[in-house]
Amino acid sequence: MGKFITLEGIEGVGKTSNLNFIRELLEAAGQACVVTREPGGTPLGEALREMLLGHRDDNMSADAELLLMFAARAEHLAKVIRPALDAGKTVLCDRFTEATYAYQGGGRQLDIGKISGLENWVQGELRPDLTLILDAPVEVGRERAGKRSAPDRIEQEKDDFFQRVRQAYIALAHEHPERITLINAEPPLEEVQLQIREKLSEYGILGK
Ligand code: TMP
Repeated sequence: MGKFITLEGIEGVGKTSNLNFIRELLEAAGQACVVTREPGGTPLGEALREMLLGHRDDNMSADAELLLMFAARAEHLAKVIRPALDAGKTVLCDRFTEATYAYQGGGRQLDIGKISGLENWVQGELRPDLTLILDAPVEVGRERAGKRSAPDRIEQEKDDFFQRVRQAYIALAHEHPERITLINAEPPLEEVQLQIREKLSEYGILGK
């Protein structure tokens, strides 16, 4: 089985730059690696992503949002993630179920039992080997993300939504310290990357 690594965080914490950094580290370590994202990663998943993030259904119900996230995930697991892991490849995924706990659980305040029920159904025993959560205050993320294009359906939520998302991420790291870790994303990129490199080594992902 290959290793399953996921990257998480609120808007503007540097997910894209750090995803590329991790990809380069893995490639330099000679690891066959599949880089993918959620929601998305398959034709069906990308179509669901458009529905989830576009503005056609601006007042989508929270339950519909949750179920669509897991529908995209079921397809992603079946078509991309499980086959790659079974083939011994490392899978690096930009967001996964921890995002559901943070956004739909924390942000939307949905019952956590609904999420864990879907997680067990769709994933069985499968959990990421390592989840890196890039953590920074909401204001810092806003400031950095503010320079980008028009907000999508979820990005347009207010700061208190993102405060809850951040707190839910922090709570997840405390609940599952063996596989979920917080990375302080406030310092300059090079310092963040040092922390990431250390974690990957600690988990034996870059080889010993
Ligand atoms: P991004 O990954 O391009 O930043 O955008 C994906 C958006 O979807 C982001 O706002 C977080 C949100 N999201 C959820 O709300 N729940 C989920 O389970 C996932 C994977 C993403």
